[in-house]
Amino acid sequence: ELADIGVTGLAVMGRNLARNLARHGYAVAVHNRSAGRTKELVETFGGEGTFLPAEELKDFVASLKRPRRAIIMVKAGAGTDAVIDQLAELMEPGDMIVDGGNALFTDTRRREAALRERGLHFVGTGISGGEEGALNGPSIMPGGSAESWEALGPILQDISAKVDGVPCATHVGPDGAGHFVKMVHNGIEYADMQLIAESYDLLRQGLGATPAELAEIFREWNTGELESYLIEITAEVLAQVDAETGAPFVDVVVDQAEQKGTGRWTVQSALDLGVPVTGIAEAVFARALSGHPEQRAAARGLEGPSVSGVAGRELIEDVRQALYASKIVAYAQGFDQMAAASKEYGWDVDPGAMATIWRGGCIIRARFLDRIRQAYDGAELPTLLADPYFADALAVAQESWRRVVTTAVSIGVPTPGFSSALAYYDALRRDRLPAALVQGLRDFFGAHTYHRVDREGAFHTDWSGDRAEHPA
Ligand code: 6PG
Repeated sequence: ELADIGVTGLAVMGRNLARNLARHGYAVAVHNRSAGRTKELVETFGGEGTFLPAEELKDFVASLKRPRRAIIMVKAGAGTDAVIDQLAELMEPGDMIVDGGNALFTDTRRREAALRERGLHFVGTGISGGEEGALNGPSIMPGGSAESWEALGPILQDISAKVDGVPCATHVGPDGAGHFVKMVHNGIEYADMQLIAESYDLLRQGLGATPAELAEIFREWNTGELESYLIEITAEVLAQVDAETGAPFVDVVVDQAEQKGTGRWTVQSALDLGVPVTGIAEAVFARALSGHPEQRAAARGLEGPSVSGVAGRELIEDVRQALYASKIVAYAQGFDQMAAASKEYGWDVDPGAMATIWRGGCIIRARFLDRIRQAYDGAELPTLLADPYFADALAVAQESWRRVVTTAVSIGVPTPGFSSALAYYDALRRDRLPAALVQGLRDFFGAHTYHRVDREGAFHTDWSGDRAEHPA
């Protein structure tokens, strides 16, 4: 018997993906660099379906039906190139190599081009949902050729999460499009978590609420428009008590947020594309700031406001509104970045389809993604903020949002996510921006020229001479 598909790299994500495939009736070839993991998988979960274990990569490849479909589930980086090279050596034109790790999309573009030269399909795919998702239904974001999607799509849709019967897996676009979209997904994940963290901090400091009380507030929020996986697990984490000390779990964890890089990549790409993803950037920088204990220790004695704990219970609803509004801004920015990249790289990514496959399975799954899907459904939307549903939501939220930022500033609680999202909202809706003055300054010191509101063309003022204006 030959396998329908193979998985190499059997750490927890790879193992769970292989089990998911087997549970759906596919015969799955399994391979790991050290054979112990392969053996363990078959011994422990062999009853869940058909696994074809292989100790050597050549036997793994030989056990696959043609055209071969092999999924690589190894840690992103140089290791991925090594496995791809070995697989490619053993494969034949028409075969497919799928990279399910969090690879940098430019690496995926390079790898796809190299394998295409050899007649092989390379599919860089985002897979979101953590261990649990990989096993029970992730959100899957594959790039690569349309031909590879034809051969892989039905399997990927089969094992993905479903929302209203619709699979959370679709062909994102050519070459690196899938990994790009997964990268932005992770960037939004960073922004979402930062906003949740600010909400927690502000309510804890402003109201003096305990983590257990805050867990209840988040649980309550999860029944409304904020309903999402991240809000749900926030309630779980806040309710957790440390078994050893009896203290709230959140108080025994070192307050330095780590990262593996996808958020940083999102911001780096956004800088190149010229897309202001301020929510994601603030989240990445907030993690970076938390990770400088020496600076934080040195700054601890600096003067703060004299007011503290001024807030009343109405702060809870205000923070909920600020969280929702800031979240809308962060998603709007992420969707702008996908649109810009799609244009830059010729991917033709459908934003509505991305919102659709993010509704379930992934870390940022949320009720309001269905609203985003509807907003982009057939509409050319210059910004999500202009969609009537979201414009209304922002109109309802904005007074609360302003009060929250004001309160945060007055009691000295840092809320870079809320504040920058509000600044973005206010800047975008402005009739005139002070960018006009920036243009004037650029022309003054560097003759960089400017455009006029009332005439075509570029102009320069002779600032060091008679200050007369000349066409540039
Ligand atoms: C997912 C997650 C997953 C990973 C994050 C963690 O979609 O399932 O995003 O990919 O857990 O990338 O990222 P950091 O370690 O950088 O926070």
